[in-house]
Amino acid sequence: MILLFVGVNISVEGIGVNWGTMASHELPAKVVVKMLKDNGIKKVKLFDADDTTMNALIASDLDVMVAIPNDQLASMNTYKRAKEWVQRNVTRYNYNGGVKIKYVAVGNEPFLTAYNNSFLDITFPALRNIQNALNEAGLDYIKATVPLNADVYNSPDVNNPVPSAGRFRQDILGEMTQIVQFLAQNKAPFTVNIYPFLSLYGNDNFPIDYAFFDGVTSPIVDNGIAYQNVFDANFDTLVSALKAAGYGDMAIIVGEVGWPTDGDKNANVNNAYRFYNGLLPKLGANKGTPLRPGNIEVYLFGLIDEDVKSIAPGNFERHWGIFKYDGQPKFGMDFSGKGQNKLVVPAQNVKYLPKRWCVFNPNAKDLSKLAENIDYACTFSDCTTLGYGSSCNGLDAYGNASYAFNAYFQVQNQGNLSCNFQGLAAVTTQNLSQGQCDFPIQILLAESPERGPSLAILLFLLVITFFM
Ligand SMILES: *[C@@H]1O[C@H](CO)[C@@H](O)[C@H](O)[C@H]1NC(C)=O
Ligand SMILES: *[C@@H]1O[C@H](CO)[C@@H](O)[C@H](O)[C@H]1NC(C)=O
Ligand SMILES: *[C@@H]1O[C@H](CO)[C@@H](O)[C@H](O)[C@H]1NC(C)=O
Ligand SMILES: *[C@@H]1O[C@H](CO)[C@@H](O)[C@H](O)[C@H]1NC(C)=O
Ligand SMILES: *[C@@H]1O[C@H](CO)[C@@H](O)[C@H](O)[C@H]1NC(C)=O
Repeated sequence: MILLFVGVNISVEGIGVNWGTMASHELPAKVVVKMLKDNGIKKVKLFDADDTTMNALIASDLDVMVAIPNDQLASMNTYKRAKEWVQRNVTRYNYNGGVKIKYVAVGNEPFLTAYNNSFLDITFPALRNIQNALNEAGLDYIKATVPLNADVYNSPDVNNPVPSAGRFRQDILGEMTQIVQFLAQNKAPFTVNIYPFLSLYGNDNFPIDYAFFDGVTSPIVDNGIAYQNVFDANFDTLVSALKAAGYGDMAIIVGEVGWPTDGDKNANVNNAYRFYNGLLPKLGANKGTPLRPGNIEVYLFGLIDEDVKSIAPGNFERHWGIFKYDGQPKFGMDFSGKGQNKLVVPAQNVKYLPKRWCVFNPNAKDLSKLAENIDYACTFSDCTTLGYGSSCNGLDAYGNASYAFNAYFQVQNQGNLSCNFQGLAAVTTQNLSQGQCDFPIQILLAESPERGPSLAILLFLLVITFFM
């Protein structure tokens, strides 16, 4: 009996990852699934239920969390629509040898203060309808949950933010209580995203070592427990908030945790390595937190860099990947956390565009329009590595121009008309990458038009180009 129980426990362990797809050039879904399998990753969390992704996951044996984006929460307030969603995006894949769907994420951080309460009233009804639709379809073992940002709770005394004082945010206490009660009724987990990087990013006085896992000189002491890192303290603040709400035993999933590698002074490969090199062994050893020792179900954020993600929160948003845009690992890490020191396996059979870069043309005569052409290039491509504290910040003005022109040229699949910029640019076969600053060559898009830039965007670009 005991052995069997242990066996069952082990099978649900293992790290998960978030697979976001906000990239101008997505790796083929099948290549991504193979990369996950090659690296021993057992679970994947999605941000939608896209057909291409789901089809690639068929027979993969990966545990899957599918998702309903925030902009579909309103329609899920109608039970009939929720049933259709479940039928189309869960039931359809739920057969022997199909996709192993374990969870449905209802919304993504819908209570972020940046959303101005837009989703406040529609999140709970969507959650209720989706779980009820799952139950009605005989799929009550698939759990609906709402991935929430850690800002839904806090420890009220800012001068002494001890985890044991954790409570749900006062302004959303009613909504949170409703959600937690419903999750408990359905034996569904609470899902929270915890970001030590953002604690540091938002606050120059934040003690940097507290964001990592190597110990600090002055830990936060709470009822005799010395908190050595903000991850544990944050997680246990949630445990206390749940306890105060009457659900101290509710299962908790960490829906997102990770560290970006570019786009900010603290976002770099060394810090990301340090973070994962502390987090993964801690998870691999089932240490848990002081209030919740044991295994924690965790999804790393994220799998691959996403070059068209919104940078409203910061330039680092496009650099959360464990892998670069092309599925190449950024640094060594041990996903098992068990000291097996396996090398990270890159994506296989990735096809690239030719080795051609678009750069500033040194023979250009009229430089008066340089700034506006750089602006244009960066509006439609990713120039976030040029900013302060980022990998290409050291370039000179012409280097900046080259970087921008090349970024645009690659996004446009090296189209012949996309390296002109009023005579300021020219194509070269010389690689201008230097030091940390990489001038990328994009990957060849799969022959699957619905996954490329939409026709509307292409037309828009055409019109804009025409008027320049
Ligand atoms: C299924 O999921 C896709 C992708 O997230 C979504 O666009 C679509 O509306 C869903 N289907 C139904 C019937 O709700
Ligand atoms: C929220 O409100 C602010 C200030 O009123 C506004 O600038 C912002 O665009 C709003 N955001 C959303 C998502 O509605
Ligand atoms: C290059 O571009 C970045 C980002 O726009 C800017 O911060 C930097 O000052 C530029 N460098 C030069 C030499 O113009
Ligand atoms: C683009 O330029 C290349 C190299 O000059 C040439 O081989 C190719 O035919 C051109 N393609 C188009 C669509 O004009
Ligand atoms: C360009 O050079 C950099 C290093 O200088 C290298 O890492 C990168 O792979 C090269 N790019 C290509 C497409 O060969």
